[in-house]
Amino acid sequence: MMGAMSWTRYVGVGLLFAISWSASTADEGWFWHVTDFHYDFSYSGLDLSCNDDVTNHGTYGNYWCDSPWSLVDVSVEAMKTFKPDVDFILWTGDSVLHAGDEHLSVDINDGILSNITEKLVQEFGSTPIYATYGNHDYFPSNQFPPNNNELYNRTLENWLPWISGEEEKNNFLKGGYYTAVTTHGIRIVALNTNLYFTSDKLTGSLHDPADQFAWLETVLAAAVTNSEKVLVTGHVPPGVVDTMGKPWMYPQFNAKLNDIIRKYSDVIIGLHFGHEHIDNFRVYTKSGVPVATMFLAPSVTPWRYKIPGQTGGAHNPAIRLIQYDRQTGQHINIITYYMDLPASNTQGTPMWAEEYNATRDYAIDDLSSNSMNKLVERMSVSNSPEFANYWKWRVVSVQDEMLEGCDEACKANTVCQFKHVDQSPYDACVSKAVSGSTYLLPSLMMVLILALSCLAAQK
Ligand SMILES: *[C@@H]1O[C@H](CO)[C@@H](O)[C@H](O)[C@H]1NC(C)=O
Ligand SMILES: *[C@@H]1O[C@H](CO)[C@@H](O)[C@H](O)[C@H]1NC(C)=O
Ligand SMILES: *[C@@H]1O[C@H](CO)[C@@H](O)[C@H](O)[C@H]1NC(C)=O
Repeated sequence: MMGAMSWTRYVGVGLLFAISWSASTADEGWFWHVTDFHYDFSYSGLDLSCNDDVTNHGTYGNYWCDSPWSLVDVSVEAMKTFKPDVDFILWTGDSVLHAGDEHLSVDINDGILSNITEKLVQEFGSTPIYATYGNHDYFPSNQFPPNNNELYNRTLENWLPWISGEEEKNNFLKGGYYTAVTTHGIRIVALNTNLYFTSDKLTGSLHDPADQFAWLETVLAAAVTNSEKVLVTGHVPPGVVDTMGKPWMYPQFNAKLNDIIRKYSDVIIGLHFGHEHIDNFRVYTKSGVPVATMFLAPSVTPWRYKIPGQTGGAHNPAIRLIQYDRQTGQHINIITYYMDLPASNTQGTPMWAEEYNATRDYAIDDLSSNSMNKLVERMSVSNSPEFANYWKWRVVSVQDEMLEGCDEACKANTVCQFKHVDQSPYDACVSKAVSGSTYLLPSLMMVLILALSCLAAQK
């Protein structure tokens, strides 16, 4: 029989254990975000995606081309190696290569989606995968119709384990969107924002393609009523693109989606999108107060775009891990991992490493919109070391000699797109930054002239 002394001792040890347990593991969970695989099955053959004549086909890819299967493989395997026990995976589309429609079909695109789904399931077993379409996943490319079609039907077969209930199946079959609740009670809202993309010729004149806005408002209003925590995910992000000076989306859709996000920001714990291939983020504000942050994960594909007059910079393949509080949904940290593509090809082995730990390397407390907003303020000043770091991480740590510069105008555009997701505030921000810098020189000249005339007068 246990004596009184030892009984209290056991309680004491138990209490200590409970305290240290709650301090170190305050119900923290993790999830992966992976995006833009752009798998090129013709790599090293027809090179359908390659934007340059490639003579040296590295085992793991080439900056001018989309991902060979070997890169898809090692990326998913790296996810498993770095963190096998995640609560769920976000996968934000664009699995299909950049190639002309003459090389693609519903069969081919469905085959690519199936194979990558299978690879993820093979590595992660029963871990839920909340997947969304990218604009390249449709056939013909970008042309998502606002109604049911063969691809939605085929994809649903693949994603059935994670899209449950008749209602959500019907939403998916109708518009490629759905909602689901994770085992820890986080509501995932998986959008098909490709319907709003300016390259989609079928939706631009519609009021509400596939009734997705109406559905989204209903889901978010119910989340408010039920005090849920919502995580919004999709491919094409809202906001303004600094390199184009306008949104990816038709202007009315960009404005509408932003309004909805702001209106329901109290229940939105995070937004995770892809599409840009670079590492990026945008802070939503309401009357100047930060209320939500959208994170854009860098792509797996290293592909550099090339359009007349513009060539994209080189970037390495990346995968992203997010740490969050399972109770509040608050994002605690982001760890981005990358693969040094040239080194991996040279070594003949995938060289994955942690690229950065957001809270440590940006010196922020957490990933809240307040913290992210403060980070933007620190990035805004001249010679900001935070901005210099961001600029390198934006293209996933390519070697310094491949890193393109960013002058004051470029930096102003980048900072303005962090802060303003709507067209006119973005434009105002950019023109203020530009006029700010052009007025600086004349006013400095004035000070100099005044100083010189004072000196002259003293003589
Ligand atoms: C998908 O996998 C199947 C079976 O391994 C293979 O036959 C097919 O070619 C793959 N599809 C693509 C687009 O690579
Ligand atoms: C998709 O599947 C539904 C039933 O699940 C069917 O009613 C519809 O006709 C199918 N659509 C196409 C384009 O095959
Ligand atoms: C990120 O950095 C913080 C602060 O140094 C550290 O406490 C945390 O363990 C790091 N996270 C990971 C996943 O390495």
